[in-house]
Amino acid sequence: MFGPAFPSSPLFRLGVRYPIIQAPMAGTSTPALAAAVSNAGGLGSLGMGASTPAAARKAIEETKRLTDKPFNVNLFVHEKGVANATNEAEWLSFLRPVFAEYGAQPPEGVQEIYKTFKEDEEMLEVLLDTKPAVVSFHFGLPAEAIIRRLRENGAVLLGSATNLEEARRIEASGLDMIIAQGAEAGGHRGMFDPTIPDDELSTFALTTLLLKSSKLPIIPAGGIMDGAGILGYLTLGCPFVQMGTAFILTPESGADAGFRAALKGPGAEHTRLTPLISGRPARCLQNKWTDLATKLEGRVQPAYPMAYDAGKALHAAAKAKGEEGYGAHWAGQGAPAAREMGAGEMVRLLVQEIEEARDRIASNRSNL
Ligand SMILES: Cc1cc2nc3c(=O)[nH]c(=O)nc-3n(C[C@H](O)[C@H](O)[C@H](O)COP(=O)(O)O)c2cc1C
Repeated sequence: MFGPAFPSSPLFRLGVRYPIIQAPMAGTSTPALAAAVSNAGGLGSLGMGASTPAAARKAIEETKRLTDKPFNVNLFVHEKGVANATNEAEWLSFLRPVFAEYGAQPPEGVQEIYKTFKEDEEMLEVLLDTKPAVVSFHFGLPAEAIIRRLRENGAVLLGSATNLEEARRIEASGLDMIIAQGAEAGGHRGMFDPTIPDDELSTFALTTLLLKSSKLPIIPAGGIMDGAGILGYLTLGCPFVQMGTAFILTPESGADAGFRAALKGPGAEHTRLTPLISGRPARCLQNKWTDLATKLEGRVQPAYPMAYDAGKALHAAAKAKGEEGYGAHWAGQGAPAAREMGAGEMVRLLVQEIEEARDRIASNRSNL
């Protein structure tokens, strides 16, 4: 049912067999994860948004050693955050007592811990040189000239939208497919401009609206955890879905023991969307950080990703004392349904579940 059903999708033309994209997850997706998914017939992704060009090159080359199948490389295209010494000092002073609980001090200041792809020529050179089959963008779009150079270099290009206006901008920029990221999704919302009110559209609402309003193929992302869920979106007319949380517990993911334990724990039932951990809205397993964020809501904080520098420092200080509750444990609302198994096995199970769900519908047809 897979390839022939959507022959026009640019990803099926690349030879991706099944309609499953393992989401790029900076810090959690690894070459081993992306390769295992691609080898099993899905599309694996590397989340390189928080990496240096040298680290990205290394990860891409490593992935190529592990698979000869296509895979996706994802970059962050946020507006560069403006440093503001007053906000930064104030924020660090809010966090000081929390650091003190773990016998630590907040850092003196916060740094821009990674560059936006908007102004990273060196990263562009890495992509042009290593030629990943697919490149995806989060938080916005790169300049027209960059899009043109990547396209001329042969990459299929995907952009992530959280609302209709962002999707219109992706379509106008000439990208190939739109990821419809719903509010259920784990990790950072890909909003282009986090300062404007967020409608927090669900994956279902956003996807169905975009299927009607856009000519590009739509890839829903957010809350999809099993084959029946995938089939639901295929039935609507989506050629692929993108799944992140479903792959966190695979042995190939880079999630550390604390993250894995948290995803299997009670916080999974209460994910929280908060900008306070990193400086941009992101969905996290409920933990000490999200509880603290609730108390600090409305405070002025440093811009993304400078705020994240402090967030990561707090996690490191607490972790050094055995407290894992300040991890940026990004996960979607489907978190309690995350399963622990090899990534290739996961893809095969998802395909089997799609087929079972389709058969279930066929055998229940008389009830419709
Ligand atoms: C741990 C984690 C890290 C993520 N990092 C990225 C990233 O680097 N780039 C990106 O485009 N999306 C990232 N996302 C969002 C995913 O692309 C996707 O929208 C999301 O995982 C879909 O929702 P789900 O987690 O419910 O499947 C991340 C998600 C998670 C769970």
